[in-house]
Amino acid sequence: MPRNFGLALPSLLAVFGVANAYWLMGANNVLTVQRMDPIISPGHVSGHVHAVLGGSNFAFQTSTDLLRQSECTSIPIPEDKSAYWYPNLYFQWANGSFTSIDGGAVIIYIRFSAQLCVQYDLRRIVTHGFADYLFSGTPGATTAFPDDFRMFSGNPSLRTYDPNSFAQQAVTFLCLDFNGVSTRHNGLPNTACPSGIRSQINFPSCWDGVNTDSPTHKTHVSFLSEGPDQGTCNDPNYPVVIARIFLEVYWGTSYYDQFRSQAMNQTQPYVFSYGDRTGYGFHADFINGWLPGVLQGALDNCNCDPYGDPTCCVQQGLFNMTQGQTCRITNSVDEQVLGTLPKLPGNNPVQEEGQNAVAVPDTTTPGILSPVYVYTGDTPSASGTLATPPITVTSVTASTTSVSSPTSISVPSTSLPPVTSSLSSSHATSTSTPPPVPTTSRTTTPNGLPFTISIPTITIPSITFSFPPLPTWFRS
Ligand SMILES: *[C@@H]1O[C@H](CO)[C@@H](O)[C@H](O)[C@H]1NC(C)=O
Ligand SMILES: *[C@@H]1O[C@H](CO)[C@@H](O)[C@H](O)[C@H]1NC(C)=O
Ligand SMILES: *[C@@H]1O[C@H](CO)[C@@H](O)[C@H](O)[C@H]1NC(C)=O
Repeated sequence: MPRNFGLALPSLLAVFGVANAYWLMGANNVLTVQRMDPIISPGHVSGHVHAVLGGSNFAFQTSTDLLRQSECTSIPIPEDKSAYWYPNLYFQWANGSFTSIDGGAVIIYIRFSAQLCVQYDLRRIVTHGFADYLFSGTPGATTAFPDDFRMFSGNPSLRTYDPNSFAQQAVTFLCLDFNGVSTRHNGLPNTACPSGIRSQINFPSCWDGVNTDSPTHKTHVSFLSEGPDQGTCNDPNYPVVIARIFLEVYWGTSYYDQFRSQAMNQTQPYVFSYGDRTGYGFHADFINGWLPGVLQGALDNCNCDPYGDPTCCVQQGLFNMTQGQTCRITNSVDEQVLGTLPKLPGNNPVQEEGQNAVAVPDTTTPGILSPVYVYTGDTPSASGTLATPPITVTSVTASTTSVSSPTSISVPSTSLPPVTSSLSSSHATSTSTPPPVPTTSRTTTPNGLPFTISIPTITIPSITFSFPPLPTWFRS
């Protein structure tokens, strides 16, 4: 049930300032868009396409240590070389083809309650995604992520909505209308959104205090006692308060709404990379890559601006900021994932609302390119060459409508990676062969080349809410 978002705002704004602290980081750009997922499919081509924010040492496999050595990060705080990733969105045409939608993200780091950030960035100019770090205003109350901490929020196989599930409450969508009223939805909105769609996801913010990961990548952490954005860490199994990461991804869907009459499904033409038109399976992943000590210092002391502008935290010496400085890596997976494609990479069929999606094996694993080049402008100095050829498995009778057991797949050689499946939530099927990890040598664009800062200019017209003046950093 969509909520009238506008009406909720003033009270949230009033609640803010009192007990909560957060800062917003609008990602400078998306680091890469590829079938990679070092948490769910370490060492393998992952089942579906992700957009990635963060440190340039993101790869098939990575760690806090490797991320910290990244040459650059697409996060504006250079001390944050963490990796954040989420599925990419596509428009599905009536003929079955898909066209990728540009996304941008904001990361919000929060100590305690969240909704407050939501209201505010309705009017900011969204660039490439934001992550919000939310945390309590009390120094020492929130613990920084330990080394190698990683976690996963959401579940790509979901195609139904359980309103009582905190994990599902953690995923929401805004149907944006900057000239009218934006509404909040539990899934992708079944209506055209004049100013685009924003997917939002909370990560859990209570930790067991011991494990940096768990078999499902979920059970070492939990949501707050009353839901993803309210309550306390009162479960004795998860006593440690960690920063709540709230990841907002803005999707520029409004351009494609003019083509709705040519869509496969005119009610809801957008599909996530794992074959989801509902949005209930939206998910996101995080691996800590903060430089030692910086996050703890920020959680203890970055509480100087009620609207989450971290500029004053920079003035306090808590971290640095490099707005507009891009960071990208060249592809490791040799396949096209952007533009118009005949099918979703990984051969993920769209599985409609009603029952959980089933894993559908793909018969082809694309080739692997090596090395990876890191670049800060728009164009890499070079790109990798084919290091592992593509593999096609012929003995599978993969059908897009039936469940195929992974045991029916015969992999031609043990030196080759296993067939990827569209839903990577079951780990047991992907451990049989050693991963084809390409070399990790990287080259940077030669110094001295002026790089172009390309921030898409999505101009947000005036809206009906009355807020305090926008800080100037929101506009850049
Ligand atoms: C499907 O339609 C879209 C939009 O008209 C077009 O760009 C694409 O090439 C078509 N795909 C095929 C396989 O014909
Ligand atoms: C179109 O999408 C809507 C929203 O997900 C869904 O309810 C409906 O069943 C879809 N229609 C078809 C024909 O798949
Ligand atoms: C900010 O950048 C400077 C120069 O690179 C560095 O010396 C300093 O440690 C950074 N500050 C923090 C808090 O990391």
